[in-house]
Amino acid sequence: MTPVTDPRTLTSSIDLPRHVGIIMDGNGRWASARSLPRFEGHRRGVDAVRRAVRAAGDLGIGYLSLYAFSSENWSRPPQEVDDLMGLLKRFIRIDLADLHKRNVRVRIIGSRIDLANDLNDLLNEAEVITQDNTGLTLVIAFNYGARQEIVDAVRKIALQVASGEIDPRVIDKHLIAQNLYTADIPDPDLIIRTSGEQRLSNFMMWQAAYAELVFLPLQWPEFDAAAFDEALRQYGQRERRFGGLANVPNK
Ligand code: IPE
Ligand code: IPE
Ligand code: MG
Repeated sequence: MTPVTDPRTLTSSIDLPRHVGIIMDGNGRWASARSLPRFEGHRRGVDAVRRAVRAAGDLGIGYLSLYAFSSENWSRPPQEVDDLMGLLKRFIRIDLADLHKRNVRVRIIGSRIDLANDLNDLLNEAEVITQDNTGLTLVIAFNYGARQEIVDAVRKIALQVASGEIDPRVIDKHLIAQNLYTADIPDPDLIIRTSGEQRLSNFMMWQAAYAELVFLPLQWPEFDAAAFDEALRQYGQRERRFGGLANVPNK
């Protein structure tokens, strides 16, 4: 059978999600199972990031969001936190030119306050250089937490209310969505998590309201185009109802 990542067969075989989010989990367990240091799992995880971005671009998916570091991941040992910061820097330094060449638009979401200046500068550079690209939008969730994102949005709105700029009666779900980090990004249709864990771990909790969730029983360093196909296949079998009724012909 031809894999669905073959763009010639894909559009006719399944309904493609516009936005796919991935909770990239299991780097540590992948390494431990091979008696390797956790760092090796994270390093190999970056290769899986490259495969995921390439597959999403080949498929013509509009938005790919990758959860790379959560606001709770600071509670890991300082060496591991440093390693993860270093790997992000290395990824941007090495891959930015190639991403740009492939028309990828890079967006970084999450809090920038606790990040080192050199990392912040690199993240800004990646966004600025690629901002006019029209291919895949690659959203990297780094130092991201959905609860903090909602807190930030509420604070922004409260300040506008306090200054008289807006009337509290106009606050609705659209205004809240417009004040999230993802204001200009559609909600994810599909969220994939590797490692077998079945939870969101503070990823896009507002935006995931109607996302289809697919949990893959492999570790993130093992993720490849075939795993992406499998998630898309499962997504294609779901019936999205958004609180309405199943797609039955009108009587
Ligand atoms: C995912 O792998 C990477 C990050 C969360 C940064 P983990 O490091 O969580 O790997 P496990 O879950 O311990 O196996
Ligand atoms: C979620 O994975 C965060 C990222 C993938 C960046 P974790 O490994 O931190 O999640 P928990 O702790 O198992 O919920
Ligand atoms: Mg984990």
